[in-house]
Amino acid sequence: MNINYKEQIMTIDIENENADEHNKNVAKILEVLKQDLNEERFVHTLGVAFTASSLAMRYGENIFKANYAGLLHDCAKSIPNDLKAGICDELSIEVRDVERRNPHLLHAKLGAYRAKVVFGINDEDVLNSIISHTTAARRMSTLQKIIYLADFIEPGRTDDIKQMKDVRDMAFKDLDAAVFMTLEASVEYLKRKKAEVDPLSEEVYEALKAFF
Ligand SMILES: [Fe+2]
Ligand SMILES: [Fe+2]
Repeated sequence: MNINYKEQIMTIDIENENADEHNKNVAKILEVLKQDLNEERFVHTLGVAFTASSLAMRYGENIFKANYAGLLHDCAKSIPNDLKAGICDELSIEVRDVERRNPHLLHAKLGAYRAKVVFGINDEDVLNSIISHTTAARRMSTLQKIIYLADFIEPGRTDDIKQMKDVRDMAFKDLDAAVFMTLEASVEYLKRKKAEVDPLSEEVYEALKAFF
């Protein structure tokens, strides 16, 4: 990956762009991501963008925003894990204790940073959707929910998670229910693997439990 994360290569004005400009921007993003990401991650990225755009159509969200957030959500994934916390410190991006212990989590914050500084995305909702795509967040916007869900259900995800079929069935019926099911499945999956669950995910999960 080009570790030169501060070099701006394009500017995207989502609110004012038309389909032609969108297509050109997407082509340019894909060109960069193809270099940066390994094949598996690149295909996953296409799956998330496709799924997020489809969910945006279903739930009346801006399709361009969903497409950009999907394409860029993992754009910092190939920064080596042992460098992530140091880069965040250098950029004054807050690193929580759980993120120091599990630096792969930081690809979300670094991805939002890169989306803004390198790809010129200025839309807060898109950037927040990238930040919350791994852990979920308190009071998520529709776009944040869409990206969180799309990352989980995109076609390339393996179905060794037993709830996958149920979540996919629910995704286009009830967004909130599908997001809750994703959160529940993710927390359960991490616990089964004896991996650390981010306290933020646990908190959001516990808060939503009362409603489902
Ligand atoms: Fe990710
Ligand atoms: Fe992802």
